[in-house]
Amino acid sequence: MPFEIRAIESAEVEDLLVADQRGFGGAPPRPGASRSWAAAELDRTRVAFDSGRIVGVSRTYSFELTMPGGALLPAAAVSWVSVQPTHRRQGVLTQLMAAMHDDARARNETAAILTASESSIYGRFGYGVAAWRLGVTVEKSRIQFARPDDDDGNMRLVARDEAVVAIPAVYDRARRTRSGMVTRPDFWWEQVFWEFMLGQEKATFVAIHSDARGQDDGYVVYSIVGEGVGGLVDRRLTIIDMQAEMAATWISLWRYVFSVDLIAKVTAINLPVDDPLRHVVVDGRWVRVDFLNDHLWLAPLDPLAILGARTYSVPGRVVIGAHAADGASSTVAVESNADGTFCVATDEEPDFVCAAPVFGMCVLGGNRWSELAAVDRLEVRRPEALALADAMFLATPAPALLSFF
Ligand SMILES: CC(C)(COP(=O)(O)OP(=O)(O)OC[C@H]1O[C@@H](n2cnc3c(N)ncnc32)[C@H](O)[C@@H]1OP(=O)(O)O)[C@@H](O)C(=O)NCCC(=O)NCCS
Repeated sequence: MPFEIRAIESAEVEDLLVADQRGFGGAPPRPGASRSWAAAELDRTRVAFDSGRIVGVSRTYSFELTMPGGALLPAAAVSWVSVQPTHRRQGVLTQLMAAMHDDARARNETAAILTASESSIYGRFGYGVAAWRLGVTVEKSRIQFARPDDDDGNMRLVARDEAVVAIPAVYDRARRTRSGMVTRPDFWWEQVFWEFMLGQEKATFVAIHSDARGQDDGYVVYSIVGEGVGGLVDRRLTIIDMQAEMAATWISLWRYVFSVDLIAKVTAINLPVDDPLRHVVVDGRWVRVDFLNDHLWLAPLDPLAILGARTYSVPGRVVIGAHAADGASSTVAVESNADGTFCVATDEEPDFVCAAPVFGMCVLGGNRWSELAAVDRLEVRRPEALALADAMFLATPAPALLSFF
């Protein structure tokens, strides 16, 4: 049975919060807490009603997605997806996804992106894992940096009133330096970061790096929990957010993290797959990986437009048969040469044909076409094109979503 789907109005934001809490099985919304993320862009909410009651919640935000080469692609950032336990498996999410994708297309957004609570949900809706994240736990006592510190910048610890001004500005520059990263609007910082991710009760710290000229170019936000028993320290430093404009600054942030005293273990849950820590310490095996998980999911709404928004690592030409999230198929010739990147629709025979999730997995370079071909997820018509496609789509640095939404 189709449910009524519509955007909500500001008077309904509290109802939305209650539905979200019930859908995710979380704590009730706190009176007086920020509603900045909840109340933003309400015209992009898509909420399902049954007899006047909310039974499903979804919405998109107007984000920019950084592409390999630095272009910023307008993308629909899907969030808040939940269906009430009373209405699961009746097609509510299926209806909501269609409504969100229709709205994104009407806004000329060519990709939809999201982070997933479960990795089993979104493949059927055309999403593939465009960027992975790495979680590590490191015993601090095992870490020794291989080379002396030659950083001529500085670290400073700041209070929240300085941090709320300083770190969004650094993030906004850093997000342009790596594909897969996204906008963090002011309304994201207020409710999602300061309220939800940092919470009220945790011991959290903000340390900012500035370069030799005194310009802020990186920061790390972390919490410390645990205690010492019998005089032996057993405390864990957890990185909540780490961002840097330059690779060298990222290493300086790691050096800082491992210089904090009275810490037994350091944990990070959102590192890029090319994180360099293991390369700069004496014994890289102690940078122990807890998980390698899906993080940024991407569904193509217009494959040609997405392919044309990125640059390619080596010159070449490949012809890709691509399906969009709604199943529409197209064939795109992707050519990169000294004059630039040229992507055009063609009626040539494609080198390979992919479903929407596989397109989402490979388009930023987060997975290789040949990996997917090896497990029969790509219909290959010209096998010799795969190595060239792998090389062209490679992105450096590796795509990563160093954020949550
Ligand atoms: C995930 C969730 C939104 C699905 O909503 P729903 O309305 O039950 O989904 P639909 O009825 O439209 O299901 C569509 C299809 O997806 C499948 N599906 C739904 N949720 C799934 C899940 N968690 N894992 C695997 N498959 C799932 C259904 O079985 C159905 O398959 P079918 O078409 O072959 O029968 C809902 O279970 C939920 O609210 N979960 C808790 C909150 C959550 O995790 N939200 C996602 C945040 S990223």
